[in-house]
Order: sequence, then structure tokens, then C-alpha cells
Amino acid sequence: MIAVAILAAGRGTRMKSDLPKVLHQVGGRSLVERVLESCCLLNPSKKLVIVGYEAQLVQQSLHQVGFLEFIEQREQLGTGHAIQQLLPCLKDFTGDLLVLNGDVPLLRPETLENLLKIHKLHRNAATLLTAHLPEPKGYGRVFCDGDNLIRQIVEDRDCNAAQKQTHRVNGGIYCFNWPKLAEVLPKLSSNNDQEEYYLTDVVKYLSPVMAVDVKDYFEISGINDRKQLAIANDILQNRIKDYWMAKGVTMIAPDSITIDDTVKLQPDVVIEAQSHLRGDTIIGKGSIIGPGTLIENSKVGKNVIVLYSVIIDSQVADGCRVGPYTHLRGQARVGESSRIGNFVEIKKSIIGQKTNVAHLSYLGDATLGEGVNVGAGTITANYDGVQKHPTIIGDGTKTGANSVFVAPVTLGENVTVAAGSVVTDNVPDQALVIARKRQRIIKDWKMSIKKKN
Ligand code: UD1
Ligand code: CA
Repeated sequence: MIAVAILAAGRGTRMKSDLPKVLHQVGGRSLVERVLESCCLLNPSKKLVIVGYEAQLVQQSLHQVGFLEFIEQREQLGTGHAIQQLLPCLKDFTGDLLVLNGDVPLLRPETLENLLKIHKLHRNAATLLTAHLPEPKGYGRVFCDGDNLIRQIVEDRDCNAAQKQTHRVNGGIYCFNWPKLAEVLPKLSSNNDQEEYYLTDVVKYLSPVMAVDVKDYFEISGINDRKQLAIANDILQNRIKDYWMAKGVTMIAPDSITIDDTVKLQPDVVIEAQSHLRGDTIIGKGSIIGPGTLIENSKVGKNVIVLYSVIIDSQVADGCRVGPYTHLRGQARVGESSRIGNFVEIKKSIIGQKTNVAHLSYLGDATLGEGVNVGAGTITANYDGVQKHPTIIGDGTKTGANSVFVAPVTLGENVTVAAGSVVTDNVPDQALVIARKRQRIIKDWKMSIKKKN
């Protein structure tokens, strides 16, 4: 049986932030969420999250994750003190306890699985994830006898000059035989530079304690400051981009692109420079995204071109062309082979197939049929100051440049709207609507004024 405990009580002083460290985000998700996710393969019987600094905030942020127990560490007296808080709630627990620092967001689930396997195989009292870092500064150094058996862990700030030369570090990921750990936890003292109770000191009292090196040392990157947060972001981004490139996605200037790990891409997608794909986004085969595009929680079909545009919470069907400078938002849905062009904003509207909204328009709460041509500068006046109202435009209708539809209003099929019209009443199929004053010409007007003066 395995229980998991996540250390998430610290403030994270080095972040210089009001937000608790574990709530800072990497790739659209908080550090603590990512740590929780890394144990998804283990099926733990208990998931304990130790909270302290801004406990409520941390707890709230995880309200969607099921089966969590929160244990409060009122004063943050160190990682050992944090685990001491588990003694009452794990009183009768006889299995293994996996302890994960809440600031280690890049762990792979398979790595934890392997750690547990080795722990069980050797019947260790404790098994720790370690790595050989080129730059070990800031990490606890691990000292082993032969056979990877740990003798001592010394925190960076407690190391003497010789100890600092060691590049083998503690990853902050531990598997303990809980009854054995519970027995020695009360022995911890705070006799060190930080005057904290270090969890790492338990290795002095337990045996055998084994170090398991992680192959990809980036996995144990701990986040203590903004610089490390930025580096973790880069590492995650590289992982995600390598994955999609291997699946047949082309990226132009990949360093300027960001992709959340929740995004799904099909083969032959091309992502151009300065494009950002976030949240629950799917891009279909052969589509070209960017340069300069942000797409969030949206579905883009096959063979779509999106250039310098923002698409949020929306859908674009196959074969469309979007941009430059289009903004789709609030459940906009664009039908197949349509064209949405320069400086067009579409909110909560359905656009039929082969419809063009090519220049300088705002469509809100509108439903457009197939083969509609929206003239440049067409605007739906959908808001009366209190409520939003719908505009409906039938198949094959053409709106003149600079026309305004004062909603609620319905235009039938194959209607022609004269340029500059302000349409306030419904228009039947096949009609021409001119909703403006006719042009009047007053001849020799300038001369008559001059004469009067
Ligand atoms: C810790 C390890 C160090 C290891 C490194 C790996 C100790 C003493 N040191 O150092 O050997 O190389 O992680 O990243 O454990 N926390 C609490 N309560 C507390 C203190 C901390 O819950 O009282 C939590 C923090 O929120 C954080 C985690 O424990 O998520 C680690 O604490 P941190 O202060 O970052 O430890 P490090 O100095 O990085
Ligand atoms: Ca840390």
C-alpha cells in the first residue's frame, strides 16, 4: 500500500511573491498540480497535501482534484517538521509513504514508478531520487557508500568547501517505509544553519537508504526563484515541442513558440514564429498557425490558415482563412471554407460555410448562413445598454460596407443591404434594403452662400 504526501506549506521566500510558491505556474498549471499529476500511475490509497502559508489559497486551487486530504503545518519549521504533522493521520498506516517536494514540477510518472519498484525490490527503509547536476548549487548534497547506500545528506548552506564539490544532489523525492520513518521522525533536531527540522536528516537513523539516479536530471529541477521558474518553463516547452515535432509538426523558430501540454496537434500542422497555443486547444492536419497568433481553448480544423490573430474559446472549421488581425472569442463558430479577415472581431456568433467577413467588422450574438458576404465595416449593434440581442442573416445575403444591424433583427436569404444602412427592422428574402437618406445634391451652393455674405 502506498500513500503520497506533498510538501506545499512553505512560502517560497526566494520567489519574492505574495502568492505561495507552489501556486506559481509552469505551462499553464501550478507547481503543486503538476507534482500531484506526476503520481498518477501509482494509485495511492491516500493523497496528503501539507499546507501552511496561504493554506486556503492552496486548498482552493486544488478543489477540482479528487480524494485529497489537507494537513496543516501551522508554522513552517522545515521539511522534517512538515512530515511530522502526518504522525496522527497515518497512525495506523503500515505501507510506504512517497514524499514529494511541492516545487518539483517536471517529474515523469514513470520515474516515480521506477523509484517505488526499486524501493520494494530492496526492501529499503528509504529510497531517494538523486541526480548528478552540472550546477548543484542550492541542492542538498548526497554522500553514499558503495552500492548507492546513503550515509548523509548535507544542505548546500551547511556544506563545507570540500562537500560543495559533490555534484550528486537530493531531488526532494523520497519513498519511505512509513512505520520505520514514523519511529525516527521525533529524533530530528534543528541544529543547522537555517534552524529547521530537515527531513533529509532521517537518513542518519534509517537503514538501508538507497539513492536512485534519475536519467534525465531536468526532472528533479526544484523551483526556488523566478529564474528557476523560467528555466523549468523552457524545459517543459522543449519536451512538448520535441514530442510534437516527432509526431510530424513543423515549427518555425521554435524558441519563440509556446504550447501547453494540454494542446493536441495533428501531423503536418505548421506553427510559425511567435505563436502560443494554450489550454484545451486542438489543431487539425495541415493547418498553418501564425506567425504572431494566440489560440486558447479552441478547435481549429484541417487546412486552416491563421495569421496574426487571437482565437479564444472558439471553433474554426476546415479550410478557413483567418486574419491578419482577427479576434474570435466567446464561443464563436466559423463554418467550413469561410474567410475572416483583417480587423474583424467575432463574439458568440455562428458563421456558416463559405461566408466572408473580410474587413473591419464586429459581429456579436449573430447567426450567419452560408455564402454570406459581409461588407467592410459591418457592425452588429447587439447591446442596448442592458441586454444583448441576436442578429440573424440568411444564406447568400450581402451586406453593404459600413452597415449597422440594430439587434434584435433578422435578414432573410439573398438580401442585399445598401452601403451605410442602419437596419432596424426585419428584411424578407431576396429584398434590397436601403436604410439611409438618399443623397441630395444642391447645385452651386457655395456661390449662393458667398452672395448672401
Ligand atoms: C530541499 C531539500 C534538499 C533538496 C531540495 C530539492 C530539505 C531540508 N532539503 O531543499 O536536500 O536538494 O529540496 O529540491 O528538505 N516545505 C514545507 N514546510 C516547511 C518547509 C518547506 O511544506 O516547513 C515545502 C516547501 O513548500 C517546498 C518543499 O517543502 O515545496 C521544499 O522546501 P524548500 O524550502 O524549497 O527546500 P530546499 O531548500 O529546496
Ligand atoms: Ca526547493
